[in-house]
Amino acid sequence: METVVSGIRSTGKLHLGNYYGALQNFVKMQNDYNCFFFIADLHSLTTHPTPENLQQTVRQVVVEYLAAGIDPDKSTIYVQSDVPEVSELYLYMNMNAYLGELERAASFKDKIRANPNNVNAGLLTYPVLMACDILIHHATKVPVGKDQEQHLEMTRTFGNRFNRLYNVEYFKEAFAFSFNKNLMKIPSLDGQGKMGKSNGDASCIYLSDSEKIIRKKIMKAKTDSGPTEENQEKPESVQNLFDLMKVVSSKDTVTYFDELYNSCKIRYGDFKKQLAEDMIIATDPIRSKIEDISKNEEYIQKVLRQGTEKASESAHKTLKEVREIIGFKKFY
Ligand code: TRP
Repeated sequence: METVVSGIRSTGKLHLGNYYGALQNFVKMQNDYNCFFFIADLHSLTTHPTPENLQQTVRQVVVEYLAAGIDPDKSTIYVQSDVPEVSELYLYMNMNAYLGELERAASFKDKIRANPNNVNAGLLTYPVLMACDILIHHATKVPVGKDQEQHLEMTRTFGNRFNRLYNVEYFKEAFAFSFNKNLMKIPSLDGQGKMGKSNGDASCIYLSDSEKIIRKKIMKAKTDSGPTEENQEKPESVQNLFDLMKVVSSKDTVTYFDELYNSCKIRYGDFKKQLAEDMIIATDPIRSKIEDISKNEEYIQKVLRQGTEKASESAHKTLKEVREIIGFKKFY
């Protein structure tokens, strides 16, 4: 059976984009593959060196993985920092990752542009750590979005370089994988691009947001002053809300408001109210599961104990083999 690895950085709670993108993919994959899903808390240090309450955010993501339907008896759920072999492999792999290629990574360029005062070496070698997450379990499939393609290409480069350097066929090549080819697009509430934490809390609907907060965020979402010509093209902000409606509302509802827009009769207040109520209904099951699981400390601990044990076993075996390949031997 092929192995799958994926992780989400633990910079806080997950949003609708994570849910309809990564999480639903994870849930579907777990029946057909040997899956490892982890919380990338080490990666979160590259941009959040002193995270407030790291333990709490990691716990929240674990709860949300479970609430989304990741089954701990089918998949291995663990926290990256609980498996220190990942960090050891990262040290070895850093020796065959070159400055030039790391500097060329789009994610690195984006991050140093966004945060010119924190250009640390961890940020530069982020793709090496990500490669180790994948290589350590010999995964061949990685459910991630387009923005991670370049990191997967680097993962293949580092693995192949290791193989060539030591003249072995040890690491396998991993490729991006998605169950549904047309992943649902989850746009941002601020009128621009896709939903993401970096655009601010008001632009994201978190899985744990209360009904009241969801209403408030949607009512405040950006629109424009309204159509003035029939069948006029929608500006991105309005199109985004229609795209969200397509995810949570019935076809009839979307058609109804689309026709109102096209005949210039739409009232954004009514439109948003409908969107908010449908959003609340669509997300109610996951919200209540998050609440229930969150109360069950014993269960969360059991899941992580079991997951860490399985992930460590796999990681330990890899590191033993890697040390042998590199040539580390004990002289006593
Ligand atoms: N870089 C990924 C992201 O930002 C998170 C991640 C870290 C990851 N390690 C991984 C994803 C390994 C897949 C496999 O979304």
